[in-house]
Amino acid sequence: MKIIKQIIVLGFFSAGIIYELLSKLFKIMSVKTVQKKLSIGIVFLTIGATTIACTSTKGTNADDPTIAIAEIVEEFKIEKSGAQMWGETCNRCHLAPSPADYNDTDWETISLHMRVRANITENQITKIEEFLKSAN
Ligand code: HEC
Repeated sequence: MKIIKQIIVLGFFSAGIIYELLSKLFKIMSVKTVQKKLSIGIVFLTIGATTIACTSTKGTNADDPTIAIAEIVEEFKIEKSGAQMWGETCNRCHLAPSPADYNDTDWETISLHMRVRANITENQITKIEEFLKSAN
C-alpha cells in the first residue's frame, strides 16, 4: 500500500511539472481557454489524489511490522496481573475474600458467579481465578 501511495504521489508530482511546462507553452501560444480548463482539471485531480492518499492510511499499521510489534508490547505491558485485578475488582462491593477462604473447586464456582456480578471479561476472571487458586 505504501508503495502504491508513493507512486500516486509521484505521478501527481510529475503531472504538476508537465502542467507547468504545458501552461508555459500555452501562454506563449496565448491559448487562454485551454489553460483555464487544464488548471481546473488539475485542481480536481489533486483533490481526488489527496482524498485517496488520506483514506488509505487508515488501519494500515499491519504494513509496518515495527508499529505492529510496538502495539503488542504496549498491550502486554498494560495488562494487569490476577493479583492486581483481584485487589481492584473484588473489593468494590465487599471486602475481597482471601484466597485461603475457599478451595479450588469453590473458586471455580465463585468465579462464574462474580464474573457476572463484577461485569468483567473472561480473560480477567481467568487471571483472578488463577491467582486465587495459586495462593490458597
Ligand atoms: C458488583 C459487586 C461485586 C463485585 C465486583 C464482586 N462481588 Fe462478590 N459478591 C457480591 C454480592 C452481591 C455477593 C452476595 C451473593 C450474591 O448475591 O450473589 C457476593 C458474594 C461473594 C462471595 C461469597 C461470600 C459468602 O459469604 O458466601 C465470594 C466468595 C465473592 N463474592 C467473591 C468475589 C470475588 C473473588 C470477586 C472478584 C472477582 C468479587 N466477589 C467481586 C458482589 C460483588
